[in-house]
Amino acid sequence: MTETAAPASTRLRAGVVGLGWAGRQHLAAYASQADVDLVALAGMESDQLAELGEAYGITAEHRFADWHDLVDARAVDVLSIAAPTMLHAPIAVAALEAGIHVLSEKPMAENARVAQTMVDAAHRHSRVLEVSFNHRRRGDVQVLKQLIDAGLLGHVYYAKAGWLRREGIPGMGSWFTRRATSGGGPMMDIGVHMLDMALHLLGEPLVTTATAATYAEFGPFGRGAAAYGLGRKSEVTADDFDVEDLATAFLRLDGGGTLLLESSWAQWIPYDQCYVAVYGSEGGATIEWGGEPGEPYRRLGIWTEKDGVPAELKPVVPPDGQHLETVVRFLGAVRSGAFADHDGSEALVRAKVVDACYASAGQQREVAVEHAGRRPGAVR
Ligand SMILES: NC(=O)c1ccc[n+]([C@@H]2O[C@H](COP(=O)([O-])OP(=O)(O)OC[C@H]3O[C@@H](n4cnc5c(N)ncnc54)[C@H](O)[C@@H]3O)[C@@H](O)[C@H]2O)c1
Repeated sequence: MTETAAPASTRLRAGVVGLGWAGRQHLAAYASQADVDLVALAGMESDQLAELGEAYGITAEHRFADWHDLVDARAVDVLSIAAPTMLHAPIAVAALEAGIHVLSEKPMAENARVAQTMVDAAHRHSRVLEVSFNHRRRGDVQVLKQLIDAGLLGHVYYAKAGWLRREGIPGMGSWFTRRATSGGGPMMDIGVHMLDMALHLLGEPLVTTATAATYAEFGPFGRGAAAYGLGRKSEVTADDFDVEDLATAFLRLDGGGTLLLESSWAQWIPYDQCYVAVYGSEGGATIEWGGEPGEPYRRLGIWTEKDGVPAELKPVVPPDGQHLETVVRFLGAVRSGAFADHDGSEALVRAKVVDACYASAGQQREVAVEHAGRRPGAVR
C-alpha cells in the first residue's frame, strides 16, 4: 500500500453523511477542531439539512440530499458516515475510491462479507478506514484497559457484557427494524458496542465459536419503541419489524476464555442496564451504567487483594472521550500516514462474530467464527 500522509500542519476538509443523532455527534466533533474545515453535509431531511448547514456554516452548494453528490463534489478529505447501516459500505467504498479517508459509524456493515469490501477498498486506495466504537473511549473503559494491560487482574479468562433497554427500539418501523437495511436488531446495534468494549479490554483475543439465540417478543407487536429515531412509525406491521429484539450469546475465545453477551432493545426490567465485567486470576472488575432518566448511575468497581487482604480499588476516572475522541483519533490516523494500521480490520472482526451469532441462532448450534484473512500479530 502506498502511503501519503497529510502533513500534521495541513488543514483537513471534513464532511458528514447523516443528520440523525450519530451525524450530529460527528458534526460537533469536527466543528471543535481548530485545524479542520467542516465543509459538506448530506441528509434527506431538507429542513434539518438547512438548519444544521446554517449552524455549522456549510455553504448551500455543499449541502446535499444524496450522499453520491457529496462524494462526487470532491470537496472533502475526510468523511464521516452516519447513515443507515446498509449504506455504510456503498458510501465508504465510493469515498475511498475518490481518495477520501472514511470514519464509518458502527456497525461496520450489514454483514462481514460486505464489511470486507470496505477493508479491501481502504487497502486498494491507500486511505484510512475507521469505525466509530465511541464507547471504548469512555473514561472508565480507558482506565480499566490501562490497569488490565498493566497486569492488575492477572490472566483474564472470563467476561460478560450486556446492554439491555427497558423500552428502546430505535426508529420503530424505520430502517433500524428491517433486516434488509440494518442487518439485524440489538446485537447489530448495541450488542456490537459491548462486544467491542469486551474484546478491547481483553486484548483482542480471537473469538473461535459462537452459540447464540435471538427472540422477538416486543417489536412485532408494536411494543418497546423508543421515543426517538428519525422515520419511526406509531403503527407497525409485520413487514416493519423482522429483526430480533433480544440476543444472547456465549463466545469461546482462543486460549480457553469465554465471553457472555446479551443485548436487548426492550425487556421487562426496571430501567436500561449496561455492563461489562471481567474476571482474572488476580482480580475482577465491573463497569456498569444505566438507571432511570432522572436517576442515572455509573460505577467502576475493581476487586483484588493486597498482601492477602481483600481490597477494592477506586481509580480516578478520566473524562469520557466518546465521539469527540473517536473523531480526533481518526484525524490523527489520517495525519500519521500509517494508513495500513487503520484499515477497519478490527471492526471487521466484530462483524464476523456478529455473523456467527446470527448463524448460530438460525441453526441452533455452535458455529465457528470465520477468521480467514485476519492479520497476524493482532491477537495478544
Ligand atoms: N456510535 C453510536 O453511539 C451510535 C448511536 C446512534 C446511531 N449510530 C449509528 O449511526 C448510523 C445512523 O444512525 P442514526 O440513529 O443517526 O440514524 P437516523 O435514521 O436518525 O439518521 C440517518 C440519516 O441518514 C440519512 N440518509 C439516509 N439515506 C441517505 C442518502 N441516500 N443520502 C444521504 N443521507 C441519507 C438520513 O436522511 C438521516 O439523516 C447507524 O449506522 C447507527 O447504527 C451510532
